[in-house]
Amino acid sequence: MVPLNSELATLLAEGKKALAVTGCPTPELDAGFLMADLLGIERAQMLLDPPASIPPGAAETFRRRIARRVAGEPVHYITGKKEFYNHTFKVNPAVLIPRPETEEMVEAVLKQSPRGVALTVADVGTGSGCIGISLGLERPEWRVTAIDLSAAALDIGRENAARLGAVNVSFVQSDLFAALPGQFDIIVSNPPYVDHGAKNALQVEVRKFEPPLALFAAERGLAVIRELVAQSAERLRPSGVIFCEIGYDQKEAVQKFFEDGLWTDVTFLKDISGHDRIARAARR
Ligand SMILES: C[S@@+](CC[C@H](N)C(=O)[O-])C[C@H]1O[C@@H](n2cnc3c(N)ncnc32)[C@H](O)[C@@H]1O
Repeated sequence: MVPLNSELATLLAEGKKALAVTGCPTPELDAGFLMADLLGIERAQMLLDPPASIPPGAAETFRRRIARRVAGEPVHYITGKKEFYNHTFKVNPAVLIPRPETEEMVEAVLKQSPRGVALTVADVGTGSGCIGISLGLERPEWRVTAIDLSAAALDIGRENAARLGAVNVSFVQSDLFAALPGQFDIIVSNPPYVDHGAKNALQVEVRKFEPPLALFAAERGLAVIRELVAQSAERLRPSGVIFCEIGYDQKEAVQKFFEDGLWTDVTFLKDISGHDRIARAARR
């Protein structure tokens, strides 16, 4: 392990200190992450095999990045990217930063779907496109329709699909299924599900920087899920399956949405913390 050159070490210490003062829970990690991204290398590589010098202007850029982080901006909006299902997605404040629990939903969809069968899939509330694009790349034989109400989010989704080569994913601006014809074999969604009343309980970086349209829903956070399930009953082919991410305390309420006799095999998959976070149900 080579010692950090003194300029790099000084900048990292300065960044860590500035972040720690503001109560940032991971000051060393964030400072390292923001610097490594600037240098175009992984944080581990920067620490194990540091560059002999840092490029001109990097110190100023790093200090600007730290100032944004001090103001509460999430690191992934500062770097403009987030890893999801082994791909790098562009993100900006028009889209939610993809979360690890959503990768579990992608995994669950793929696990139940054999390869080589041409299926049609809708990703409702696609944001950065992380779900639809990851599915489309894993299953080139599928046709994925990625839907969002936000035109700005769709711009990011389209850009990600083009850069990652997801040629089987198309993007449509729509309020749930309102602007779309047809039926699907799989509907997958990470809809907004936070109660407006819980806004102040969210971390500042979420509350102040992530798009409200991606976070909040009426009816204690359940309105979009309720409407999605109702519309999905029409939009799924017989035996088609819906996967929907839900809030950690919404299982009982969401279960009731599937009790109209139209659904079978209603199950809830747990996240790594043991919460029921993914509703799965098949259309009769
Ligand atoms: C929680 S974010 C999920 C983004 C992305 N799928 C992910 O998992 O990171 C919810 C997304 O749903 C979109 N959205 C909210 N209400 C919608 C509606 N009625 N119809 C379509 N999209 C909607 C938001 O713009 C946002 O991009």
